[in-house]
Amino acid sequence: MATTSLQFWKPGTQGPGSSLDRATESEEIIVHAPNLSALGIQAQRERLPIFKHREKLLYCIEEYGVVIVVGETGCGKTTQLPQYLYEAGWAPPGSVIACTQPRRVAATSVASRVANEVGTILGDEVGYIIRFEDVSDKDKTRICYMTDGMLFRETMIDPLLSRYSVVMIDEAHERSIYTDLLLGILKKIRRKRPALRIIVSSATLDAQGLLDYFNSNTALSNNIPPLEQKPEAVIVSLEGRMFPVEIAYLDEPTSDYVRQAVKTIWATHLQQKAPGDILVFLTGREEIERCLSELSELLPDLPKGYPQLHPLPLHAGLSTDEQLMVFEPTPRDVRKVVISTNIAEASVTIEGIKYVIDCGFVKIRTYNPSSALSSLTTVPVSRASATQRAGRAGRTAPGICYRLYTASTAQSLPPSTSPEITRTDLATPILQLKALGVDDLMKFEWVTGPPAESVLRALEHLVAAGMIGADGRLTPSGEKVAECPVEVSIARMLFSSRDYKCGEEVLTISAMVAVQDVFIIPEGAPGALAELERRKFTAEEGPLNDTQDHLTLLNAYNAFVRYGRSSSWCKNHALSFRAMSRAVSIRAQLKKYMVRFGLPFDSCQGDSKRLRQCLASGYWRNGARWVMDGSYRSVRDDKVFHVHPNSVMFNRKPKSGWVVFHEIEETKKTHMRIITEIEPDW
Ligand code: CDP
Ligand code: MG
Repeated sequence: MATTSLQFWKPGTQGPGSSLDRATESEEIIVHAPNLSALGIQAQRERLPIFKHREKLLYCIEEYGVVIVVGETGCGKTTQLPQYLYEAGWAPPGSVIACTQPRRVAATSVASRVANEVGTILGDEVGYIIRFEDVSDKDKTRICYMTDGMLFRETMIDPLLSRYSVVMIDEAHERSIYTDLLLGILKKIRRKRPALRIIVSSATLDAQGLLDYFNSNTALSNNIPPLEQKPEAVIVSLEGRMFPVEIAYLDEPTSDYVRQAVKTIWATHLQQKAPGDILVFLTGREEIERCLSELSELLPDLPKGYPQLHPLPLHAGLSTDEQLMVFEPTPRDVRKVVISTNIAEASVTIEGIKYVIDCGFVKIRTYNPSSALSSLTTVPVSRASATQRAGRAGRTAPGICYRLYTASTAQSLPPSTSPEITRTDLATPILQLKALGVDDLMKFEWVTGPPAESVLRALEHLVAAGMIGADGRLTPSGEKVAECPVEVSIARMLFSSRDYKCGEEVLTISAMVAVQDVFIIPEGAPGALAELERRKFTAEEGPLNDTQDHLTLLNAYNAFVRYGRSSSWCKNHALSFRAMSRAVSIRAQLKKYMVRFGLPFDSCQGDSKRLRQCLASGYWRNGARWVMDGSYRSVRDDKVFHVHPNSVMFNRKPKSGWVVFHEIEETKKTHMRIITEIEPDW
């Protein structure tokens, strides 16, 4: 396999649909990406395309309530704009410039970059806030990167967001649910607090639609005729420059794009003499790890005389330090291969990429209102995403993008991804909106209205769970749940732990399901070892030795604490030290909520039945029953489910025949993740 030739059209012979519309300007071709780290920080900042627009941007922010900034990815919006505002005096003591991100990884990595540029320790003048992790200082922080969900949550405590002078909603083109909700709320806040400034920024946005959204309704105040009033919002376009990107497609579709990616990396490295790094898009951590491990098997076969190949992962399961490694410039004789999730599509920009390998898929959260189930689903990327991904190869010089699909598949891709609000479970967002006093959901100024059926399902669920009363308002328990920083089902579980006397255990389980990627495959170890280690926690010497995923998580947590929270212990037991430490911190934070709500910390004392009953009370919408062929059927609509291969329930028949699960993941099959057996009469 070492020297497999590529089944691609040769670069240079462009296939149908390969034109990158914007990739034509190339008056000055830089063949070697300049090594920016050799320049001073100030010089680096001034080289970014956004720098030329600094004065215009500051003027517009002074003059208008809402500035919509559209500019090529990598031109400096996320890292520079908040700094320009800060330097121009927009964040005097007592006020903060917020910049929201749909992704945690982007918030943390950008914050540490900007802290670096400002010359401060992360968490002082520049900080970040993501769920369960606040690296900011109430008094010192002037620029705060945060996930959009966290800023939305803050409106429940401070409805006018009074500590913020400017809120920048970044990556707006992604149209995450909380971006949409924030836009609606911010439009409202602006009417009450005109001093607040809003920046909406994005790489490829339907800017006109947003402009109309913000400019509607504003002229009606003060009896001033509309024409004489200054509009609320303006658009600022930052012209970017892109180099041509050659697009190559597969002749035949592949059934295994991870393996195909490995082959393509290898062939690119051997055949492409021009220096330049490789960026690979896959859909998630598991694929990235497989790709890395298959690639590392090839590395010893690298023929003499070729530059070294340096593979690096980029996904949300990494520590901030690990994430930042992808930005390190590579030495001359080394080629970097960054294997990334969608994060590298627009949220972060890595210098020096000349070759992009695009698997053509993306993992998104989808929701099916008829079954009331949401799942992580791997779907084909949109044309807009594919163009954006290819564009990553043409930032500093002409590049090549290998698409791991055929040209005819490319033509059948949907033009763009639908806003998340149209395909998500609305139970938690609606609960939060109600907590904000938005009782009439029809009157909320949606950027895109949610589907009626999803709203109905969510309301139904919230009423059935006793969180919304017959009058459509929040009940006292609904108010409390809205405050909890976890999904409705988990909050419900925490509240019913009082009845089942298992607060201690449910608290731990809630923390463990909130962190992802607890079980890892240690470097160099076969996958079977991790599997073996995981099974061990099902029979840890603890009293809860049922073979169930939730109890396995509980046992793993307890053992981690018992053995002194040691990282070497984690390594030996195929657990992620970072994930486990995060679980400890999340547990401590959730514990504070339980104290506030007066929930007791009883232990079920090894009575796993009580604990499983409590889990069933939270996961009541996520039920399935076993059928003869070894698969499951969902309780609600008889859909076929399978057990995720990582589950300790894999290939085991539950005695009762019934299970509840934490979430659904859809790839080729529909998999239930994190499963616990229950009795049908619960
Ligand atoms: O937000 P936008 O896509 O417009 O650009 P940005 O994220 O602000 O990135 C501006 C520049 O900073 C790019 O050249 C990035 O490569 C660089 N950057 C970096 O070197 N290290 C980071 N951690 C973040 C950004
Ligand atoms: Mg950005």
